[in-house]
Amino acid sequence: MANSGAMQSMCLGDAMKKPVRIGLVGSGFMGRTHALGFRTVGGVFDLALAPVLEVLADANEDLARGAAARLGFARSTGDWRALVADPAVDVVDITAPNLLHAPIALAAIAAGKPVYCEKPLAPTAVAALEMVEAAERAGIVTQVGFNYICNPMLALAHEMIASGELGQIWSFRGIHAEDFMIDRQSPWTWRLDPAGGAGAIADIGSHIIGIARFLLGPISALCADVETVIPERPLPGGGGSRAVEVDDQARMLLRFARGCRGVIETSWLSSGRKMQLEFEVIGEKGALVFSQERFNELRYYKVERDGSRNGFRTILAGPEHPPYGAFCIAGGHQIGFNDLKVIEIRNFLEALAGGPRPFADFREAYEVQRVIDAALESSRAQRWVTLD
Ligand SMILES: NC(=O)c1ccc[n+]([C@@H]2O[C@H](COP(=O)([O-])OP(=O)(O)OC[C@H]3O[C@@H](n4cnc5c(N)ncnc54)[C@H](O)[C@@H]3O)[C@@H](O)[C@H]2O)c1
Repeated sequence: MANSGAMQSMCLGDAMKKPVRIGLVGSGFMGRTHALGFRTVGGVFDLALAPVLEVLADANEDLARGAAARLGFARSTGDWRALVADPAVDVVDITAPNLLHAPIALAAIAAGKPVYCEKPLAPTAVAALEMVEAAERAGIVTQVGFNYICNPMLALAHEMIASGELGQIWSFRGIHAEDFMIDRQSPWTWRLDPAGGAGAIADIGSHIIGIARFLLGPISALCADVETVIPERPLPGGGGSRAVEVDDQARMLLRFARGCRGVIETSWLSSGRKMQLEFEVIGEKGALVFSQERFNELRYYKVERDGSRNGFRTILAGPEHPPYGAFCIAGGHQIGFNDLKVIEIRNFLEALAGGPRPFADFREAYEVQRVIDAALESSRAQRWVTLD
């Protein structure tokens, strides 16, 4: 239905640019972040394409209508299939629960439309591969929401590792821990639906696995211990409980194809931790330490002959670390979480305009999913699993 009060999202300077009409499915935490990103991106970056917030789909007409008005979409629908088939939708953006990613993305690809989809891409690597192959066959641009790798400080870390500044890399330590599931009485949600895939290792662990791959390349083998700590959760609205079949926590030993080794831990039961997405990369000539809770900083240790004044130094994000300068001309003023989505959307829109494919496309998300599947298999079989 038409939303007469909706503000069209094209900015003033966008008038000469080619419009690209966005169909967004889902309007929760991520839906709002994506909508904000599409509204902002043209004011931050000089792009060939100008996103237009065309249609928003949600689980029913009422939810969709309210969200479309709030987020600035022209029209709304309670049926994602209508959004995908809508000739006025050029791009399908999926921020619905995980179980819906595959059917919506496959329908969008069949309709010849580029897809921007939240992580985790699919419940299993097999399902993810079907999506990758369909997109690659159709020559469709895809983007997956691994927004943390869009951080300018991660680009710096990547550059320092790739250039050899840290020397030979000896170790990676990564963790993604939060505490949003610690209350045993917090009700069963779609995040616990085994049909949608794994638990914390997919929901938040996919981010640290993606970061490990972004910085150090493929993981060639792993040994994991995956556990469910809270065995059941109350059903929403009362009326009993439901068994939890997915993981709350996981620990993994890793071997990277480049030769170094590492560990990753994931948990959504980590009391007190709000966004402990952290890593350390340790090399022969130096080390890097990063925490998403202070994500405008990268801590760097350089091994020096004279150790008397040696120690970690803190590099503050600034215009020297692109694309920070597109947001703010002054260093140390900091960019925010929503800005990472703006950078991700910039990458996607540039790819749509013929630029390089985004690093975090469907194929990359499939590789992350293979690591998750391997961890589940390793834990089940209590053995190391090799990834080809
Ligand atoms: N990249 C990140 O940092 C990040 C952070 C949080 C969530 N996520 C991912 O984003 C996705 C959504 O997570 P969220 O936290 O926004 O969830 P949410 O529960 O806040 O929002 C989900 C939205 O989907 C809608 N929805 C449910 N069924 C639907 C249907 N059949 N058709 C259309 N819409 C439907 C819901 O009504 C809601 O608006 C998940 O895949 C999640 O893993 C990514």
